[in-house]
Amino acid sequence: MNKLLGFFSGTVKILNSISKKSTLLDVGCGGGLFLLHLNNVFPQIKMLGMDISAAAINDANQSLQCWQAKNPDICVSFQLQEQSQLNCYQNSFDIILSTLVCHHLTNDELVIFLQQAYLAAGTAVIINDLHRHRLAYWLYGLVSPLLFRNRLITHDGLISIRRGFTRVEWQRLLQQAGIKNYQLKWCFPFRWKLILWK
Ligand SMILES: C[S@@+](CC[C@H](N)C(=O)[O-])C[C@H]1O[C@@H](n2cnc3c(N)ncnc32)[C@H](O)[C@@H]1O
Repeated sequence: MNKLLGFFSGTVKILNSISKKSTLLDVGCGGGLFLLHLNNVFPQIKMLGMDISAAAINDANQSLQCWQAKNPDICVSFQLQEQSQLNCYQNSFDIILSTLVCHHLTNDELVIFLQQAYLAAGTAVIINDLHRHRLAYWLYGLVSPLLFRNRLITHDGLISIRRGFTRVEWQRLLQQAGIKNYQLKWCFPFRWKLILWK
Protein backbone atom coordinates (compact mmCIF):
# COMPACT_ATOMS: atom_id res chain seq x y z
CA MET A 1 0.00 0.00 0.00
CA ASN A 2 2.86 2.38 0.91
CA LYS A 3 4.52 1.67 -2.43
CA LEU A 4 1.25 2.07 -4.30
CA LEU A 5 0.47 5.43 -2.69
CA GLY A 6 4.02 6.72 -3.22
CA PHE A 7 4.91 7.03 0.48
CA PHE A 8 7.92 4.76 0.01
CA SER A 9 9.43 6.45 -3.05
CA GLY A 10 8.70 9.87 -1.54
CA THR A 11 10.62 8.94 1.61
CA VAL A 12 13.53 7.53 -0.42
CA LYS A 13 13.71 10.82 -2.33
CA ILE A 14 14.00 12.83 0.90
CA LEU A 15 16.56 10.47 2.45
CA ASN A 16 18.68 10.74 -0.70
CA SER A 17 19.26 14.38 0.18
CA ILE A 18 20.35 13.56 3.75
CA SER A 19 23.71 12.15 4.92
CA LYS A 20 23.91 8.39 4.47
CA LYS A 21 25.57 7.97 7.85
CA SER A 22 22.44 8.80 9.82
CA THR A 23 20.28 7.22 12.46
CA LEU A 24 16.56 6.92 11.86
CA LEU A 25 13.62 6.24 14.16
CA ASP A 26 10.34 5.08 12.59
CA VAL A 27 7.50 5.92 15.00
CA GLY A 28 4.50 3.65 14.50
CA CYS A 29 6.46 1.20 12.36
CA GLY A 30 3.62 -1.36 12.31
CA GLY A 31 4.78 -4.72 10.96
CA GLY A 32 8.14 -3.16 10.03
CA LEU A 33 8.10 -3.80 6.29
CA PHE A 34 8.47 -0.12 5.39
CA LEU A 35 11.66 0.08 7.46
CA LEU A 36 13.07 -3.22 6.20
CA HIS A 37 12.57 -2.16 2.58
CA LEU A 38 14.01 1.26 3.38
CA ASN A 39 17.11 -0.39 4.82
CA ASN A 40 17.54 -2.25 1.55
CA VAL A 41 17.97 1.13 -0.15
CA PHE A 42 19.97 2.75 2.68
CA PRO A 43 21.94 -0.05 4.39
CA GLN A 44 24.29 2.48 6.05
CA ILE A 45 21.49 4.15 8.01
CA LYS A 46 20.98 2.64 11.46
CA MET A 47 17.23 2.18 11.85
CA LEU A 48 14.95 1.60 14.83
CA GLY A 49 11.23 0.96 14.53
CA MET A 50 8.90 1.60 17.47
CA ASP A 51 5.19 0.93 17.88
CA ILE A 52 2.73 0.92 20.76
CA SER A 53 1.27 -2.35 19.52
CA ALA A 54 2.99 -5.46 20.89
CA ALA A 55 1.45 -7.53 18.07
CA ALA A 56 2.97 -5.17 15.47
CA ILE A 57 6.43 -5.40 17.07
CA ASN A 58 6.09 -9.17 17.21
CA ASP A 59 5.33 -9.27 13.47
CA ALA A 60 8.19 -6.84 12.80
CA ASN A 61 10.67 -9.01 14.71
CA GLN A 62 9.50 -12.12 12.85
CA SER A 63 10.01 -10.35 9.50
CA LEU A 64 13.40 -9.12 10.71
CA GLN A 65 14.47 -12.71 11.44
CA CYS A 66 13.63 -13.71 7.86
CA TRP A 67 15.55 -10.71 6.48
CA GLN A 68 18.51 -11.46 8.78
CA ALA A 69 18.70 -14.97 7.33
CA LYS A 70 19.48 -13.35 3.97
CA ASN A 71 21.50 -10.44 5.35
CA PRO A 72 22.98 -10.97 8.85
CA ASP A 73 24.47 -7.43 8.91
CA ILE A 74 21.14 -5.66 8.54
CA CYS A 75 21.08 -2.49 10.66
CA VAL A 76 17.43 -2.57 11.77
CA SER A 77 15.86 -3.26 15.16
CA PHE A 78 12.37 -3.01 16.59
CA GLN A 79 11.22 -2.01 20.04
CA LEU A 80 7.88 -1.76 21.82
CA GLN A 81 6.95 1.84 22.67
CA GLU A 82 5.76 1.70 26.27
CA GLN A 83 3.65 4.86 26.23
CA SER A 84 1.60 6.61 23.54
CA GLN A 85 3.87 9.67 23.69
CA LEU A 86 7.36 9.74 22.31
CA ASN A 87 9.95 9.90 25.05
CA CYS A 88 13.32 10.55 23.40
CA TYR A 89 16.25 12.78 24.31
CA GLN A 90 17.03 15.92 22.37
CA ASN A 91 18.72 15.11 19.02
CA SER A 92 18.71 11.39 19.83
CA PHE A 93 18.08 10.44 16.17
CA ASP A 94 19.09 12.27 12.98
CA ILE A 95 15.78 11.51 11.32
CA ILE A 96 12.38 10.71 12.75
CA LEU A 97 9.97 9.11 10.32
CA SER A 98 6.27 8.53 10.80
CA THR A 99 4.04 7.09 8.10
CA LEU A 100 0.26 6.85 8.40
CA VAL A 101 0.38 7.32 12.17
CA CYS A 102 -0.68 10.95 12.72
CA HIS A 103 -4.29 10.31 11.74
CA HIS A 104 -4.49 7.86 14.67
CA LEU A 105 -3.82 10.69 17.14
CA THR A 106 -6.14 13.36 18.51
CA ASN A 107 -5.20 16.97 17.71
CA ASP A 108 -3.81 17.49 21.22
CA GLU A 109 -1.75 14.28 21.01
CA LEU A 110 -0.53 15.27 17.57
CA VAL A 111 0.69 18.70 18.68
CA ILE A 112 2.67 17.03 21.49
CA PHE A 113 4.00 14.41 19.07
CA LEU A 114 5.16 17.09 16.62
CA GLN A 115 6.95 18.95 19.42
CA GLN A 116 8.58 15.80 20.83
CA ALA A 117 9.64 14.47 17.43
CA TYR A 118 11.05 17.88 16.48
CA LEU A 119 13.09 17.97 19.68
CA ALA A 120 14.34 14.40 19.30
CA ALA A 121 15.43 14.80 15.65
CA GLY A 122 18.86 16.19 14.83
CA THR A 123 18.21 16.79 11.12
CA ALA A 124 14.58 16.32 10.13
CA VAL A 125 11.19 14.82 10.91
CA ILE A 126 9.48 13.19 7.93
CA ILE A 127 5.73 12.71 8.17
CA ASN A 128 3.64 10.89 5.58
CA ASP A 129 -0.12 10.93 5.86
CA LEU A 130 -3.39 11.17 3.99
CA HIS A 131 -5.30 14.10 2.53
CA ARG A 132 -8.93 14.13 3.63
CA HIS A 133 -10.88 14.84 0.46
CA ARG A 134 -14.29 13.75 -0.84
CA LEU A 135 -12.81 12.62 -4.15
CA ALA A 136 -10.17 10.48 -2.38
CA TYR A 137 -12.89 8.87 -0.25
CA TRP A 138 -15.11 8.20 -3.25
CA LEU A 139 -12.28 6.90 -5.47
CA TYR A 140 -10.86 4.63 -2.79
CA GLY A 141 -14.33 3.22 -2.04
CA LEU A 142 -14.62 2.38 -5.73
CA VAL A 143 -11.13 1.02 -6.44
CA SER A 144 -10.23 -0.73 -3.17
CA PRO A 145 -12.74 -3.64 -3.43
CA LEU A 146 -11.43 -4.36 -6.93
CA LEU A 147 -7.75 -4.11 -5.95
CA PHE A 148 -7.72 -5.85 -2.57
CA ARG A 149 -10.93 -7.95 -2.45
CA ASN A 150 -10.85 -7.55 1.34
CA ARG A 151 -13.69 -5.71 3.12
CA LEU A 152 -11.50 -4.91 6.15
CA ILE A 153 -8.85 -3.14 4.02
CA THR A 154 -11.56 -1.08 2.31
CA HIS A 155 -13.28 -0.24 5.61
CA ASP A 156 -10.02 0.71 7.40
CA GLY A 157 -8.83 2.74 4.42
CA LEU A 158 -12.06 4.77 4.32
CA ILE A 159 -11.80 5.50 8.06
CA SER A 160 -8.17 6.57 7.59
CA ILE A 161 -9.12 8.96 4.75
CA ARG A 162 -11.90 10.43 6.93
CA ARG A 163 -9.27 11.06 9.62
CA GLY A 164 -6.75 12.55 7.18
CA PHE A 165 -5.74 16.21 7.03
CA THR A 166 -6.31 19.34 4.99
CA ARG A 167 -3.53 21.87 4.38
CA VAL A 168 -5.16 24.38 6.74
CA GLU A 169 -5.34 21.77 9.51
CA TRP A 170 -1.62 20.97 9.18
CA GLN A 171 -0.77 24.66 9.23
CA ARG A 172 -2.85 25.16 12.38
CA LEU A 173 -1.31 22.13 14.13
CA LEU A 174 2.24 23.24 13.25
CA GLN A 175 1.50 26.73 14.50
CA GLN A 176 0.20 25.28 17.78
CA ALA A 177 3.36 23.16 18.03
CA GLY A 178 5.47 26.31 17.48
CA ILE A 179 7.23 24.83 14.42
CA LYS A 180 8.06 27.27 11.63
CA ASN A 181 10.78 25.61 9.55
CA TYR A 182 8.76 23.08 7.56
CA GLN A 183 7.85 22.00 4.05
CA LEU A 184 4.32 20.75 3.43
CA LYS A 185 3.77 19.23 0.00
CA TRP A 186 0.63 17.68 -1.45
CA CYS A 187 1.48 14.62 -3.54
CA PHE A 188 -0.53 12.47 -5.90
CA PRO A 189 -2.77 10.64 -4.98
CA PHE A 190 -4.15 12.54 -2.00
CA ARG A 191 -1.22 12.32 0.38
CA TRP A 192 0.84 14.79 2.36
CA LYS A 193 4.59 14.90 2.69
CA LEU A 194 5.57 17.01 5.66
CA ILE A 195 9.21 17.67 6.50
CA LEU A 196 10.20 19.51 9.65
CA TRP A 197 13.76 20.82 9.22
CA LYS A 198 16.02 21.57 12.18
C1 LIG B 1 -1.51 2.39 9.61
S1 LIG B 1 -0.27 1.72 10.64
C2 LIG B 1 1.17 2.27 9.79
C3 LIG B 1 2.32 1.35 9.95
C4 LIG B 1 3.59 1.72 9.18
N1 LIG B 1 4.07 3.04 9.55
C5 LIG B 1 3.39 1.63 7.72
O1 LIG B 1 3.28 2.66 7.05
O2 LIG B 1 3.35 0.50 7.18
C6 LIG B 1 -0.29 2.77 12.05
C7 LIG B 1 0.56 2.26 13.19
O3 LIG B 1 0.71 3.31 14.16
C8 LIG B 1 0.76 2.73 15.45
N2 LIG B 1 0.47 3.79 16.44
C9 LIG B 1 -0.70 4.42 16.66
N3 LIG B 1 -0.54 5.34 17.63
C10 LIG B 1 0.76 5.31 18.00
C11 LIG B 1 1.54 6.03 18.95
N4 LIG B 1 1.02 6.97 19.72
N5 LIG B 1 2.86 5.74 19.07
C12 LIG B 1 3.42 4.79 18.28
N6 LIG B 1 2.72 4.06 17.37
C13 LIG B 1 1.42 4.33 17.23
C14 LIG B 1 -0.26 1.62 15.37
O4 LIG B 1 -0.05 0.64 16.37
C15 LIG B 1 -0.01 1.08 13.95
O5 LIG B 1 0.91 0.03 13.94
